[in-house]
Amino acid sequence: MSDITPPASSLARHGTQWWREGIVYQVYPRSYADTDGNGVGDLAGIIEHLDHLGPDGLGVDGVWLSPIYPSPGFDVGYDVSDHSAVDPLLGTEEDFDRLVREAHARGLRVILDLVMNHTSDQHAWFQASRQSREGPYADFYLWRDPAGRDADGNPLPPNNWLSFFGGSAWEYEPARDQFYMHTFLVEQPEVNWRNPVVEEAQLKMVRGWLDRGVDGFRLDVFNIFLKDPEMPSNPELEDLAEGTSAWDRQEHKYDRDQPDFPELIARFRAIVDEVPGRMSVGELFYGGPETSASLSNQNHLVFDWELVRAPWSAAEYRALLDRRQAIFGDTWPTVVLSNHDQSRHASRLSASAGIDDTDAVARASAAVLLTLRGTPFLYYGEEIGLRDVEVPFEEIIDPPARRVEAGWVWWNRDGCRSPMPWTGEPGHGFTTGRPWIRFGDDADTRHVAAQALDPPSVLGTYKRLIALRQGRSSLRRGALRRLDIGGDDVLAYIREADGEATLVVANFVQQPSTVDLGPAGDGPWRPIGGSHQDPSAPDADGSLALRGLEVVILARG
Ligand code: NOJ
Repeated sequence: MSDITPPASSLARHGTQWWREGIVYQVYPRSYADTDGNGVGDLAGIIEHLDHLGPDGLGVDGVWLSPIYPSPGFDVGYDVSDHSAVDPLLGTEEDFDRLVREAHARGLRVILDLVMNHTSDQHAWFQASRQSREGPYADFYLWRDPAGRDADGNPLPPNNWLSFFGGSAWEYEPARDQFYMHTFLVEQPEVNWRNPVVEEAQLKMVRGWLDRGVDGFRLDVFNIFLKDPEMPSNPELEDLAEGTSAWDRQEHKYDRDQPDFPELIARFRAIVDEVPGRMSVGELFYGGPETSASLSNQNHLVFDWELVRAPWSAAEYRALLDRRQAIFGDTWPTVVLSNHDQSRHASRLSASAGIDDTDAVARASAAVLLTLRGTPFLYYGEEIGLRDVEVPFEEIIDPPARRVEAGWVWWNRDGCRSPMPWTGEPGHGFTTGRPWIRFGDDADTRHVAAQALDPPSVLGTYKRLIALRQGRSSLRRGALRRLDIGGDDVLAYIREADGEATLVVANFVQQPSTVDLGPAGDGPWRPIGGSHQDPSAPDADGSLALRGLEVVILARG
């Protein structure tokens, strides 16, 4: 296929806008590769597999590492006890610096996951803060007096705010006779960003990582950094459907998306922007595309969750793309189908459409993920079509999934965090020990080594699609024009840039479908890739017969 140019280094390919034109791959470090046999992945394991990601492998541009900092592990790394260091469970400081060097040597940029909304309750700041209302750390967290006492003299929480993981957002600390606030676990106290000393300390930590060569950050739940300073109770919503969670029964007016947040985030971004080519992506907590677009800017992305929420349906995707276009306009969006908090997309999308062939859905969705307008984020394991793993209750690690409370049902995120199967041998090339989460039942056959030798596999498909995208400016940076062609089960769009056009036609169902390419404008169109190794070609009249779950990518001429 002449349209595929061999991947070169990310900077050479895309310059300082690499994060806009390139592809970001998310590694969940505990699940990638374990080199010391303790069953938990580590930084040395990531280094060993950088060639899977670099120009000789998938050919992505950036690697986002889920948190690598010391953590007691109550939220598996998202409860950080020291934001400036490397968790000894994952490796040494030198391992991290080597990882950055080795990644850069392959043209891969390194993105760290910054958890700045909260710390672990084991963090030195909190350990000091919880002791007393006096002292340098007293005001580092969101402390409030009890609203009063109940009939038994027990302190009452300051307001009605809730934890997303269940129960009240407030935990009483007798030493201060006050409550502290936590949107997530009791072990994840929320920091007080309105204290200038806290902001200074956070930004100093950010500079420290930048000085060590990192290229950007993913910002955990960034739109909840600031709360209303008065902390009033949130309005309770009425007339909701039965089964609506306690969290969704409130309008989260005062505990997120505060009007002065853009100024705060601008101060953070100014530091990142001191060197061209660095980026950040904000994790929008519970927000829609409007908030995502409004918080994005020319150097910084914000996740948009619409594709994660959508079922595998051409009609849904058509409506979603139109909505996205209207909301984002010229703003650059992200393209996300999965991450460490969501059901894996091969499982989720197949189930949403009642399709058993998860590999066929994985290949078709890969072709959509890599051809939409925006920066694609690819979660580890999706490139081999990994599926959610059933983890029995007694093995569950994800803490919120272990909480069984009335009216609170939480998806067990262990299912999408199973270790990467690299080979078919015992331990699957992931570990010589006992893996911290079990492998999927299909790991003997579904692994990187097998798919690397099998061009039609999901991995072979990802490699071809990534190479195709990297070689076509219309796919990397073009505008998207949706076309109403084909039947109800077909999604079609044209990407255009620099006088180049790429047409994408996707059949979302297992039944074949024929599409007249006439309305796509001047042809002839010829297939250059897609979900299948041998993409279907239109006939001389521009009629394209698609196989079931086939996505065809076409160029003019
Ligand atoms: C969002 C992260 O993606 C999730 O894994 C974590 O539990 C919460 N933030 C709290 O940090």
